[in-house]
Amino acid sequence: MVLSHAASESDVSVHSTFASRYVRTSLARFRMPENSIPKEAAYQIINDELMLDGNPRLNLASFVTTWMEPECDKLIMASINKNYVDMDEYPVTTELQNRCVNMIAHLFNAPLGETETAVGVGTVGSSEAIMLAGLAFKRKWQNKRKAEGKPFDKPNIVTGANVQVCWEKFARYFEVELKEVKLREGYYVMDPEKLLRWSMRTLYVLRPFLVPLLMENSKIWDTPIHVDAASGGFIAPFIYPELEWDFRLPLVKSINVSGHKYGLVYAGIGWVVWRNKEDLPEELIFNINYLGADQPTFTLNFSKGSSQVIAQYYQLIRLGHEGYRNVMENCRENMIVLRQGLEKTGRFNIVSKDEGVPLVAFSLKDNSSHTEFEISEMLRRYGWIVPAYTMPPNAQHITVLRVVIREDFSRTLAERLVIDIENVMRELDELPARVIKKISLGEVKSEDNDDNLMVMVKKSDLEKLKEISNGSTKPVSDKPIFC
Ligand SMILES: Cc1ncc(COP(=O)(O)O)c(C=O)c1O
Repeated sequence: MVLSHAASESDVSVHSTFASRYVRTSLARFRMPENSIPKEAAYQIINDELMLDGNPRLNLASFVTTWMEPECDKLIMASINKNYVDMDEYPVTTELQNRCVNMIAHLFNAPLGETETAVGVGTVGSSEAIMLAGLAFKRKWQNKRKAEGKPFDKPNIVTGANVQVCWEKFARYFEVELKEVKLREGYYVMDPEKLLRWSMRTLYVLRPFLVPLLMENSKIWDTPIHVDAASGGFIAPFIYPELEWDFRLPLVKSINVSGHKYGLVYAGIGWVVWRNKEDLPEELIFNINYLGADQPTFTLNFSKGSSQVIAQYYQLIRLGHEGYRNVMENCRENMIVLRQGLEKTGRFNIVSKDEGVPLVAFSLKDNSSHTEFEISEMLRRYGWIVPAYTMPPNAQHITVLRVVIREDFSRTLAERLVIDIENVMRELDELPARVIKKISLGEVKSEDNDDNLMVMVKKSDLEKLKEISNGSTKPVSDKPIFC
C-alpha cells in the first residue's frame, strides 16, 4: 500500500550521480517518466537506493528465510517466469505442489489411507492459508446451523491476544467475531481458564505447542480447532515428535504453515491442509476451465509465481527428515549459546523458554536509565536489526528485545551479537539517563509477525498450566511463556 507523500523538494525526484551520464534530468519520484532510460541507468538507480535497506541476514526480527543453497537459487531463477496458475501448461510444477501438500499432510499425521491423497493447497504465505482455512470453517459452521434450523449469522473464533494480526484481518474482512483471550503479566499464552468461559464456539485457533495442554481439558473440546503452525509446523515434527498437536487429535480440522519460515524457503510460500475432504466445503472450490483444462482451485489470488513451490519441493527432498532435524537442532543450540551469553552479562532477564520456536526474548533487569528501545536503536549501528516491542494488552508495560534464530544465524554470529550488546550497554552506561516516556501501544499489533509469542512450554510449565485449567487460579509461572 502506498500512502506516503512528497515531504520536501528533495523527495520529489530521484537523482543518481553514477547514472548521470545516461540520465541528465532527475526522475520524478511518484510519476512514471515520459521517456525511457537505458537499462544500465535503471539498474544503477535502483541498486544504489536499495543499498540503504538493512541486510536481511542481520535482520533478527524475522522468521522468514534469508538464505538458501545456490542450487536452489538456480531453480528459483529458472522458474521465475512461470505463472503457477497455468497448470495445464506447467503440469510438472502442479505435480510438485501436490507432492508438497501430501508430504506436509503426512508430516502432520493426516489420517490418509494408502491410496488417498491429501486435501490442501499452496498459498503465498500463512496469511492466505489462514483466510482459506477460516472461510472453510465459517461455511461449514453455517451449513451445519442452517441444517439444524438455528441462526447462522454470528460465527466467531477464539484466539489468544498474542495472535498474529492476520487473524484480525480474517475476522474483519470475512465478518467473523473475534474473541481474544487476554494475556496477563507473567503468563503470555492463551489462558485455559479464560478459554473455558467461551465454550460452544465456532472455532478455536491455537499454536502447536499449546494444543496438547489445552486438549486435556475435556470441558472445552466440543469445538473444532485450527492450528496456526506458521513457524512451529516445521519445528515440532522434527524436534518434538512426541508432542501431539496435529491431526493425531480428532478435533484438529486444518493446519497452516509458512513454507517461508522454518520450511526454509524464501518469502512467498505457505500451506494449508485439511484433515479430510469433508472439512473443506465443496462450494468453496472453483472449477474453472482455463487454457483448455479443468482446474479445481481454492485460493484468493489467481496468478502467482512457481519458484517458491519448486523451492519448497527442493528443500523437502534435499533435506528430508534428517536434514530438517539437523537444522532445527542447530537453531536450538545457537539459541542456547545466545541465551547463555546474554545471561552472563548479568543485565537481562530472559523471558522466553528454551523449548518451542528458537528465539531469545529478553528485557533489561534495570530499565531506570535506559530502555530496550535504545538498545535496539544502538545495535543498528553495528548492523544488527533487533526489534524491541511492548507485549500485547494486559501486559503492554513489559518491553522485550527479541532475536529469532534462523538457519543462517550461526554460532559465531550469536557470540558476536553478545559482544556487540555488551558494547552497547557500556556506551549506554556512559550516557546520561534518558527521560523515559512510557508508551503504550494499546491494541496496536505488529504487522510484521507476531510469532514473537512463541510457544515454549516446559514440562513443569505444562503441569502448572494444567493446574490452572483444573480450576486453580494461582499464577502459573514466575517467567513468561512465549507462545
Ligand atoms: C503465528 C503466525 N500466524 C500467521 C502469520 C502470518 O504468516 P505469513 O507471513 O506467512 O503470512 C505469522 C507471521 O509471522 C505468524 O507468526
